[in-house]
Amino acid sequence: MKVAVLGAAGGIGQALSLLLKTQLPAGSDLALFDIAPVTPGVAVDLSHIPTAVSIKGYGEDGLATALQGADIVLIPAGVPRKPGMDRSDLFNMNAGIIKNLVEACADNCPEACIGIITNPVNTTVAIAAEVLKKKGVYDKNKLFGVTTLDVIRAETFVAELKGKNPADIHVPVIGGHSGTTILPLLSQVEGIEFSQDEVEQLTHRIQNAGTEVVEAKAGGGSATLSMGQAAARFCLSLARAKQGEAVTEYAYVEGDGSDAPFFAQAVKLGKDGVVEILPYGQLSDFEAKAKADMLDGLKGDIQTGIEFANQ
Ligand code: NAD
Ligand code: LMR
Repeated sequence: MKVAVLGAAGGIGQALSLLLKTQLPAGSDLALFDIAPVTPGVAVDLSHIPTAVSIKGYGEDGLATALQGADIVLIPAGVPRKPGMDRSDLFNMNAGIIKNLVEACADNCPEACIGIITNPVNTTVAIAAEVLKKKGVYDKNKLFGVTTLDVIRAETFVAELKGKNPADIHVPVIGGHSGTTILPLLSQVEGIEFSQDEVEQLTHRIQNAGTEVVEAKAGGGSATLSMGQAAARFCLSLARAKQGEAVTEYAYVEGDGSDAPFFAQAVKLGKDGVVEILPYGQLSDFEAKAKADMLDGLKGDIQTGIEFANQ
């Protein structure tokens, strides 16, 4: 198993690479790529951790080599938010970065599963899909927007509110990864009842959790450590699925288009990525209205990505 992290010297990239160095299956290869000159040093640093995962760092000229033979590529390369910004404000900086990196994936590891972390995820995943289509290597089952952070946050906040162990809580989160497009399905949390006030407050907190971190970091970036954990969980699930285990995760993927061309929901993973997109079931009236209200915004975010890639 070879995993490549693009943007590996950043806040997310370093946390993620540490977790992958310690948790990928024995015998895996980890390739760290970033344009930051420190990247080979990050790899040397991590290489002193005694696990059976080999690790190599690649600077600006090493993108093709980092990607060759990769089974999974995770992309947290790009600029994070500062207070007062929306994720869509990152589009001008990050759209071109994703386009170039995904072109390199198409050229060097066309069969890899690709997990996009770079914001605005609602749009960058659409850019990636168009780039892969132009290169003739698009497989919708192998392209993911990583929305695992929304799920782990929802589980944490519900557990906190109800005095439970987060490990025992499961909260489906569907839609996209920005503001009201993030839709937690609290009506489906087993064994827990919420008052309408609790539903409204929790939904608002989950939708604005990224901003909570951005404001707390006061100009020093956005979530990196919790995102490192979320991306590692997603990558390890993909890796387990590639080894034949049946695994379910939430991710932003191309489905049947009944809600939007890309939509986050539960997906069953297998050796070649998505095996099945699982239905999200019955929504409460509150959730159904929240979904109806956000779909136009989500579709607009996706269209922005399609237009950028085809301009
Ligand atoms: P960061 O600034 O700490 O790190 C970004 C890294 O990307 C830097 O090391 C930089 O050198 C590198 N980079 C820039 N251009 C590159 C290129 N062309 N090729 C390779 N590397 C390049 O930022 P961060 O906090 O790690 O966040 C990265 C991105 O992840 C941001 O866009 C942020 O909004 C997003 N993010 C997404 C989620 C999510 O849930 N999907 C969560 C948190 C952050
Ligand atoms: C998050 O949800 O923490 C990320 O998307 C980063 C951000 O800008 O909020």
